[in-house]
Amino acid sequence: MKRKVTKAIFPVAGLGTRFLPATKSIPKEILTLVDRPLIQYAIDEARAAGIKEFIFVTSRGKSALEDYFDDAPELETSLRKKGKTELLEALKTTNMDSGAIAYVRQNRPMGLGHAVWCARRLIGNESFAVILTDDVIAAEKPCLEQMMEAHSETGGNIVAAMEVPHDKTSSYGVLDISEDMGSLVRVKGMVEKPAPDVAPSNLAVIGRYILTPKVMQNLNKKKEGAGGEIQLTDAIAEEIDNGNPVYGFRFRGQRYDCGSKAGFLQATVAFGLARPDLRDEFTDFLGDMMAMRDAAE
Ligand code: G1P
Repeated sequence: MKRKVTKAIFPVAGLGTRFLPATKSIPKEILTLVDRPLIQYAIDEARAAGIKEFIFVTSRGKSALEDYFDDAPELETSLRKKGKTELLEALKTTNMDSGAIAYVRQNRPMGLGHAVWCARRLIGNESFAVILTDDVIAAEKPCLEQMMEAHSETGGNIVAAMEVPHDKTSSYGVLDISEDMGSLVRVKGMVEKPAPDVAPSNLAVIGRYILTPKVMQNLNKKKEGAGGEIQLTDAIAEEIDNGNPVYGFRFRGQRYDCGSKAGFLQATVAFGLARPDLRDEFTDFLGDMMAMRDAAE
């Protein structure tokens, strides 16, 4: 029987410069969609997929992120006294069992592959998941859970994938497909951030991965790739050259690029509209905004 994947790496060392000045003093993973920080969405998705060990690759200035998962006894007592059970429930989702969460430090920004490699000792010889918190995915069944189901059939390496406009390939890892089976594709090559004229397809990697420990070994070589950084994409592609399977998985769901301001705003609107307690008021407001814009044109 295949061993279940129970460890996930969350690379959260990035400086978040696209969200300055906000990110001058708070990590971008703490920026909130409605009332929950980005990191909470990632953790919830990992939990739903059966992850038990959460490994954060952090850097300087990320202490707010570490504190976020601590218990807050004073706050809990005060909410309990006031009978605020709903808020207590909301708070509970941030609690982590002692020992379930680990932080390792990336002391220099050397790329996503390097960040993942920083967690190698905690991963050992097991398959593992990687979640990029910038990619928020709204889905009936959480994306990583969909991927775990696919992985239980295929084994090997699976990356989340999505068709993107051809002129956007240089923002993504892009898949070269050898066999298209619908939601699963067999991959024969992967290129990090190719220009549109050399991109092998427009099927892009989105920030969810299930990887074999061999990918971690490939990262040991610390080969520089696109942008002079150590790329996770290259370490996965090396597995194809080694004759090991790599699949792309077209997930069911809507992905928001919360690493960009436009994507973050879109996610805010979509998540706001999806909330029963906000929907009506928010819909009215958006309607008014549109009407005002039309009137001004
Ligand atoms: C990273 C990966 C890239 C992937 C993307 C998905 O790039 O390197 O392969 O397509 O995430 O969001 P980044 O967005 O960190 O530049």
